[in-house]
Amino acid sequence: MTGTATETATATAIHGDAAALDVRGDFPILARELDGRPLVYLDSASTAQKPAAVIDAVAEHLRAHNANVHRGVYALAQEADAAYSKARAAVAAFAGAGGAGPFTTIFTKNVTEAINLVAYAWGRANVGAGDAVLITQMEHHANIVPWQQLCKERGARLRYLRVDEHGQLSMEQLDEELARGDVRLVAFTHVSNVLGTINPVAEMTARIRAAGAVALVDGAQAMPHMAVNVRAIGADFYAWTGHKALGPTGIGVLHGRRELLEEMPPFLTGGDMIASVDFDGATWNELPYKFEAGTPPIAEAVGLGAAVEYLGALGMERVRAHEEALTAHLLTRLAEVPGLRVVGPAHAVDRGGIASFTIDGMHPHDIAELVSRAGVCIRAGHHCAQPLMRALGTPATARASVGVYNTPAEVDALLDALLAAREVFGL
Ligand SMILES: Cc1ncc(COP(=O)(O)O)c(C=O)c1O
Repeated sequence: MTGTATETATATAIHGDAAALDVRGDFPILARELDGRPLVYLDSASTAQKPAAVIDAVAEHLRAHNANVHRGVYALAQEADAAYSKARAAVAAFAGAGGAGPFTTIFTKNVTEAINLVAYAWGRANVGAGDAVLITQMEHHANIVPWQQLCKERGARLRYLRVDEHGQLSMEQLDEELARGDVRLVAFTHVSNVLGTINPVAEMTARIRAAGAVALVDGAQAMPHMAVNVRAIGADFYAWTGHKALGPTGIGVLHGRRELLEEMPPFLTGGDMIASVDFDGATWNELPYKFEAGTPPIAEAVGLGAAVEYLGALGMERVRAHEEALTAHLLTRLAEVPGLRVVGPAHAVDRGGIASFTIDGMHPHDIAELVSRAGVCIRAGHHCAQPLMRALGTPATARASVGVYNTPAEVDALLDALLAAREVFGL
């Protein structure tokens, strides 16, 4: 095994300038070439690349400590138990949800499952006919469809906060909606995966809770990119996903207020989530296990624990400074391309490291395909946000997104590839 996440991150990090992290050497995949060209990975909003510390932690766990959790008395099983608990403690601490605070940290399959957990377990018990659920036009399908299904099933209404021409939400509209008195829950993203908008989550949460409604934040695009403190944000539920946070696929996180989770019925049922089972019924395990039915993602949790340890050692303020500077460079360079329009807030300070754009005369899929010939990986499509695309009046955009390992030179490589792509189209 190579060094721990902390050792690796401290060994390769950063010299002086807070906005210039240099951690590329920690990410083995970045040494790859595609058709003889260096890999330029600008699709971290889709999934992040993994540092060796994470890859090694997962491999080491499987090689030396693998056993099921919560059932064995032998030493190996106790090692697996300890590794799983340690990972949960690290993840909770990273998010500001650790210790004896008001939150319990539950592992799920991804953020989609975390949101479904709340929609099913809290929603079916608390939302009924005549109630409303409020979401926003900028949500990912993962934070739309579970609420559509809940509202259909319970005879409740689903309403949307609009996105304005700057890609932002209106706090006045939020207040108006809450004043109607029927909103039971508001679910909204911390950072939009299309617009990049950073929403004022603490302010929104304060208004929502003051109105007696429950607040759920989708933190999929925030947790890996800035200092997030779930306690300071104050939402009732905060959900995120491991694979975008330098961790493995197959693991997500739900931080939830203990008193709400205690009252909620289980989501998935079966082994491990029970206290006892009889022929005609069962009682539930304590938190967080009540919401972790079946064998949990053990090696994935170990990997995510290593990922947050790695990010924590870099320092999330430095991660944000690095990515904000890169985003500013990205916005400046994209403005040089004739006919290119970026959606969302104008300034990097108001955005996560995401720039979605269209180019007159080119379909976004053609843009992504043509730049991929230069080894540049960006995404094109509706980004699982079709209602937002409708509100923006476009079926699709191309999207470049940065991570902690990207450099200004890679943004420049995207620019060269975009200009060459326009030439292919005779523009
Ligand atoms: C804002 C947001 N929410 C939810 C998701 C869904 O993530 P997962 O597929 O890991 O559940 C994504 C992924 O793109 C996202 O960007």
